[in-house]
Amino acid sequence: MDRAVVVVAAGSGTRLGIGTAKAFVPVAGTLMLARAIEPLFTLAAPTLVVVVAPAALLDDCRRLVAAVAGAAEAYTAVVAGGADRHDSVQAGLAVLPDAVETVLVHDAARCLTPASQFDRVFDAVAGSVHDGSGAGFVPALPVVDTVKRVDGDLVVETVDRSALVAVQTPQGFPLGALRQAYAVSEQSETDDAGVFRAAGRTVRSVQGDADAFKITTPWDLGRAESIVRSRSAAPTDTRVGLGVDVHAFDAASPCRVGLLDFPGEPGLSGHSDGDAVAHAVCDALLSAGGLGDIGGTFGTSDPQYAGAAGDVFVRGAVAMLASADLIPVSVTVQVIGNRPRIGARRTEMQDALSAVVGAPVAVSGTTTDGLGFTGRGEGLAAIATAVIRPA
Ligand code: CTP
Ligand code: MG
Repeated sequence: MDRAVVVVAAGSGTRLGIGTAKAFVPVAGTLMLARAIEPLFTLAAPTLVVVVAPAALLDDCRRLVAAVAGAAEAYTAVVAGGADRHDSVQAGLAVLPDAVETVLVHDAARCLTPASQFDRVFDAVAGSVHDGSGAGFVPALPVVDTVKRVDGDLVVETVDRSALVAVQTPQGFPLGALRQAYAVSEQSETDDAGVFRAAGRTVRSVQGDADAFKITTPWDLGRAESIVRSRSAAPTDTRVGLGVDVHAFDAASPCRVGLLDFPGEPGLSGHSDGDAVAHAVCDALLSAGGLGDIGGTFGTSDPQYAGAAGDVFVRGAVAMLASADLIPVSVTVQVIGNRPRIGARRTEMQDALSAVVGAPVAVSGTTTDGLGFTGRGEGLAAIATAVIRPA
């Protein structure tokens, strides 16, 4: 592998003030470091990922990296960091194999940085290696505030902001040149581009991304959490319903399950056609809308439903929801029993049910391992869930 990202995560997070190393603080339920490295396994080309962690948390860090990397775990390494960021970066650079030509250095604290920013910096370094210039690259954003030079509280002058940018990470470099730069560098440089330039090398900027901001203070953490929550926000007014139905086998009836005919299979007894799957879906839809149940709504002995096909009830439930300004979002139904085997006709059943529900219906099947009435082959059960929302 000829490219790597070193993620520095060994800081203590003093300014965040939570008492846990910053990279191990949850951001909307997922640890900051997990969020930071997730995009690295989705980049345009395979990339070695080296995480620099606090020495006391090396084992926790290894577990976390393995869990996020999944099959790509072989392309990861975890090493202990140093007293300051400068030392931590050097610890990461030190373990990179010689085959690595391009390295990006990234702050775990910029945990919402999108994959596109890594790809952009990698592309920029590759381009400059190709044209022989060997520059380093930083993602940068224009400075939007008016910036003043001050002496204590005395404002001395306005600085021309058109000549300023705010830089982020990842910052990318040809590895050999960055190693040489670090070998002769001053601890006072606060970023890798500073170290690189101090060694007489060229640094250029590429477009940054507002989401790549650094979490430093509790306010930043709150900002990151609200960004994450707004991204994953489900409509708050969805409702969920549950439906269960059971019918006994009746060899004298035709077999209809999930709106499909199963010729040659024993049918199901009942006032209607005994389609337990359709009935469970109907009940799930009604219950999601708070509209009661199939028996109370359609009448278990009403002559107009004698022998009725399952779609009549499902259609009826959807119509009742529509009258209440509600529409189905999705439905799942599980068929529980020995027969009929639905595996080969699962897609067909999903299509038939979806067409009537007007939303995706997912069908699955299971047996009960020979236990209970379904295991003994006395009948068929179905359990359904429905999600609905205001129309
Ligand atoms: N970092 C590091 N090793 C250190 C210090 C910092 O790897 N000895 C890393 C941090 O984990 C972070 C990045 O460098 O991802 C930027 O540092 P900063 O935001 O300052 O984080 P902390 O040093 O943890 O925070 P603070 O300065 O508030 O203690
Ligand atoms: Mg710090």
